[in-house]
Amino acid sequence: MSEEKYQYNTDASETVALFTPDKNEIALYCDDFRRLDLNTDHVIAGDITQAIGWVKAHPVPSAMIVDIDGEAFPMEMLSDLYAVCGPTCKIITLGSAVNLDLYRSMLALGIFDYLLKPVTLDRLASTFASVKKGRIEEMPAGRTIAVTGVKGGIGTSTIAFGMAQVLAGDRRIATGLVDFDRTNGCLGLLAGLQEEAGLDGVLKSEHIDIRFLRRSMNRISDKLAILNQPPGYQSEQERVEQTQIFTLGATLCQMFNQVIWDLPSSQPEGTIDVLSCAQIRILVADFTVVSARNTRRLLQEIGDETDGQRVIIACNTHRENSQAIPREEFEQFIHRKVDVVLPYAGKVIDQILLKGALDISQLPAFQSSVAALVDLACGGRTAVRPKHRLLSRLKASLVRKAS
Ligand SMILES: Nc1ncnc2c1ncn2[C@@H]1O[C@H](COP(=O)(O)OP(=O)(O)OP(=O)(O)O)[C@@H](O)[C@H]1O
Ligand SMILES: [Mg+2]
Repeated sequence: MSEEKYQYNTDASETVALFTPDKNEIALYCDDFRRLDLNTDHVIAGDITQAIGWVKAHPVPSAMIVDIDGEAFPMEMLSDLYAVCGPTCKIITLGSAVNLDLYRSMLALGIFDYLLKPVTLDRLASTFASVKKGRIEEMPAGRTIAVTGVKGGIGTSTIAFGMAQVLAGDRRIATGLVDFDRTNGCLGLLAGLQEEAGLDGVLKSEHIDIRFLRRSMNRISDKLAILNQPPGYQSEQERVEQTQIFTLGATLCQMFNQVIWDLPSSQPEGTIDVLSCAQIRILVADFTVVSARNTRRLLQEIGDETDGQRVIIACNTHRENSQAIPREEFEQFIHRKVDVVLPYAGKVIDQILLKGALDISQLPAFQSSVAALVDLACGGRTAVRPKHRLLSRLKASLVRKAS
């Protein structure tokens, strides 16, 4: 195709079109596009053949994303797409195969990048940022998930710890957990730790590196380690330098795939710094007017998702009658949908804690909501497997009988 035949996109803003034959994925990609402030009309059901037809009939976008999972001859089809897209359009492929040969062949053909499914919002956003710059930016290995309560005592730490257990235990992902409640942290108790580790020392140190952090953290399992400190009522007054927080966050992301921060609702110094960098910000609330008001306020501060920093609203039923207003009224007030509602787990949590560490597989309904939260945060788009649920129910009934 000669240069003159291309219809270039003359719009000053970047345009992106995404093609996937998987109808179930359309709504999810539309949701991602909406959050990134991109045109959702450009999320289109179709394979590469349809993508080629679309490019011929429209101005060539800045980037074309195509799903290669259903393609019998992906390289052949991509070569045809490359020919019609021309030099200005970056082609990005989506797929499930972890295949280095395929990846290399795509790069050799001129494909800009290959995204492994499921793709998270922050991954999409950083790919689009690379498209704008014309080269792939280096990405940190790990991701930061900030979990914060919009008010105190509503289960933020329980949820943060539950997420870490699902990620490290069920999903076998290297996970770091930071208890940023420096006056009254409870993650050590939830993890059944006898001794607390050295967050305090880390925040005072001038030189944070992987080796130092490894010594300062407590290992809970082969995939889970925690950074916390003994509760101390003076700690909150001590200054925490912003650079310390950034260095700590970045170093943890070199050590773990997912780093969960439990941020207290009182927002001690450093909290907003973590929230401003986190790929995922989970706001834990309950269905009360105070929560609705605080959630709305926090959303005004950190609600912008156009850079790919996803906000997730999780409402936790932390007490039997903790719901004071209907979900619809809560959503109307905060101008957003609640993403996950976590059920009341009963008093069994206290019973478990009296005997040792919290094992959320003993709370099947709560565990499956936490797993849904993990899916939203990490891009997994499947629910907890039934096999685990059966096992968990059995374990839970044994615990009930024993208590
Ligand atoms: N879904 C639930 N079902 C039953 N009990 C729950 C649930 N979620 C939390 N709890 C209980 O609520 C209490 C408070 O939980 P947690 O310490 O996690 O809250 P928090 O928001 O982190 O509190 P703080 O503001 O003190 O940090 C705990 O006793 C916990 O076991
Ligand atoms: Mg807490």
